[in-house]
Amino acid sequence: MSLEKEIKEMVKDVTQWRRDLHENPETAFEEFRTADIVAEKLKEWGIETHQNIGRTGVVGVLKGRKNTSGKTIGLRADMDALNIDENNKFSHVSKTCGKMHACGHDGHTAMLLGAAKYLAQNPDFDGTVNFIFQPAEEGGGGADVMIKDKLFEKFPCDEVYALHNWPDMKVGEIGVAGGPVTASSDRFKITIKGKGGHAAFPHKHIDSIAIGSTISLALHAVVSSNTNPLDGALVSVTKFHGGVSTNAMPEVVELEGTVRCFNPETRLALEEQIQKVAQGIALGYGAVAEVEYTRNYPSVVNTEDKVEFIKKVAAKTVGEKNVLNFRPTMGSEDFAFMLQKKPGVYIALGQADADHNEGLHSPRYDFNDAVIPHGIKYWVTLAKEALPLNAKAPAQSPKKQKKPAASA
Ligand code: NI
Repeated sequence: MSLEKEIKEMVKDVTQWRRDLHENPETAFEEFRTADIVAEKLKEWGIETHQNIGRTGVVGVLKGRKNTSGKTIGLRADMDALNIDENNKFSHVSKTCGKMHACGHDGHTAMLLGAAKYLAQNPDFDGTVNFIFQPAEEGGGGADVMIKDKLFEKFPCDEVYALHNWPDMKVGEIGVAGGPVTASSDRFKITIKGKGGHAAFPHKHIDSIAIGSTISLALHAVVSSNTNPLDGALVSVTKFHGGVSTNAMPEVVELEGTVRCFNPETRLALEEQIQKVAQGIALGYGAVAEVEYTRNYPSVVNTEDKVEFIKKVAAKTVGEKNVLNFRPTMGSEDFAFMLQKKPGVYIALGQADADHNEGLHSPRYDFNDAVIPHGIKYWVTLAKEALPLNAKAPAQSPKKQKKPAASA
């Protein structure tokens, strides 16, 4: 039976698994039910299964019909939901108030399970596939937690791959690009300590509200003044807290925000400049600014020399004309931690159609089940292409032929 036909026969089951996960969303490091379901299914198909890798992470290890290549690839799906109250009407709507699969990780998990089932039944590859089901992608850095729990020592991988459903692309399209495709994501908190007092006597106080406002405006100029315009960067103040009454100046004001960019040097420059701007402005007004800067996720940087391979896999999955350029996004993704350790590629899998226009993290987001066959086919094709059964042994370098001695 052809791969397409076999996948078509699985889609009903995979859709049901996906909808069950959707109904029962679990957030960062609390994916207990989800992890148990994943582990149960992997075991049912005879896949060697390991739980509690990076707290709630699961890894399935599947050896191919042959293992002469000695090569192993890691395929990653994220399992966690978000703290969002779902605003959908369909029957498989979240049963947990305030939690929702609003990023489609239910779909990612179900599709990788579908591929695992197919490959367990058709292990037509030479090498090993590690199915990596990670917790806490949404801010908890689950990929990093798995790595720190010795993911790659326990389950060595030569290459790692991941996908994300993409509402900006149509179903049946795949986005691929080399280099950075998601931004690094950091956060800052600036605490401005002025001198509070009666609002009628500003000359006796240090106005932390005015200082906070000045710092906020100045931070907007940090990107335009301190980074290469071609690099792409963003500094946004997203919280501003201070004051409780109209006739008293607060002593303390707090600003918080996000910093996103693609280039590690830009990341460092922004961190330094935010400190300088905040502290310099506060000092100028006689106040003090304390800056806490937290590095969160790095940028996902796809390995350039794996991109052509992935374009070939994508073309076999959806046809060459449907393989598009993946335009980098200011969103972030913790698969970045895995790509810092191993070569690999993160792709965008189109999910939009007339009924699926909501963006990720919207309370009306709806994972498009029409994506499922594409996702399974992509993973299966990737495994078979990365670990071909009939790979020729690497060619020996031809022996240098002696040149005939030049005649005297
Ligand atoms: Ni996501």
